[in-house]
Amino acid sequence: MENHQRLDTDSHMHRDKISLQLFIHDLKVPLAVIEAGITSLLGKLEKYGPLTEKQEKVLQRTLRNTRVIQALVNDSLELERSKRGVLNISRTRVSDLIEEALVEIFDLVDYQASEDIKCCEDLHQLQGTLDENGLKLCIDETLWCAELSLDEAKIKQILRNLLNNALKYRKSCVELKVEKQPHQVSFSVKDDGEGIPSSYHKRIFESYFQMNATDTYTVRGHGLGLAGVMVLVEDMGGELCLESDEGKGAEFIVKLPLAKAK
Ligand SMILES: Nc1ncnc2c1ncn2[C@@H]1O[C@H](COP(=O)(O)OP(=O)(O)O)[C@@H](O)[C@H]1O
Ligand SMILES: [Mg+2]
Repeated sequence: MENHQRLDTDSHMHRDKISLQLFIHDLKVPLAVIEAGITSLLGKLEKYGPLTEKQEKVLQRTLRNTRVIQALVNDSLELERSKRGVLNISRTRVSDLIEEALVEIFDLVDYQASEDIKCCEDLHQLQGTLDENGLKLCIDETLWCAELSLDEAKIKQILRNLLNNALKYRKSCVELKVEKQPHQVSFSVKDDGEGIPSSYHKRIFESYFQMNATDTYTVRGHGLGLAGVMVLVEDMGGELCLESDEGKGAEFIVKLPLAKAK
């Protein structure tokens, strides 16, 4: 009897959750149609006719904001998968993972920078382009070209969130460092901003917590924040460390175990 009741409540909760996830999932197709439409207007001038400078600006802004919603939709679906313990491990080239994450971030804050990143042909050239945008990329050539068994979507989401914050809170520069040890890979994202007093180190990982709610200078976020990053890292069996103090910038370090090769 008791057992029966409990099952009932659970399945109600489960149903609500599924219908919400389904709703979020169903936003994907219309968003893709909107994105494709704007991309065509911007890119196929011979087919759709020329645009004035003002029209182009409006379309660029619309496209950026469509991508913000797309990233939110994808992130929330990925986070839900993670909470259910679903990992999607595949052989991933480190260079592809990092380049794609960077393009997605810069797409939203600086369209020209993201175009420049896409055009880079090797690590050295990419490092130069990133330097011009205040981002130092530290990774050795061997790791850059390596293939690792990772959950690509989750790691991209983590990097996007940490880098987005670092770019938002930095004074002038951000450093992304990637290193590999025999059984783990680590990503460190460091900025030179105001930092986070140690009394807040726990609370910033709570959902919807913001240290300075009266922040006037904001770059739009497009992830589910540090609470989400924590869920993703834990579900991959990894570890998240924060080194920061008032006035000393912040460094977030993610250590992930590498799946054993088959
Ligand atoms: N690199 C950073 N430097 C200083 N403060 C940070 C940094 N990253 C996060 N924080 C603090 O942690 C809070 C939570 O971050 P997050 O969950 O990403 O939410 P959001 O970016 O939407 O504010 C931020 O509002 C900010 O106060
Ligand atoms: Mg954020």
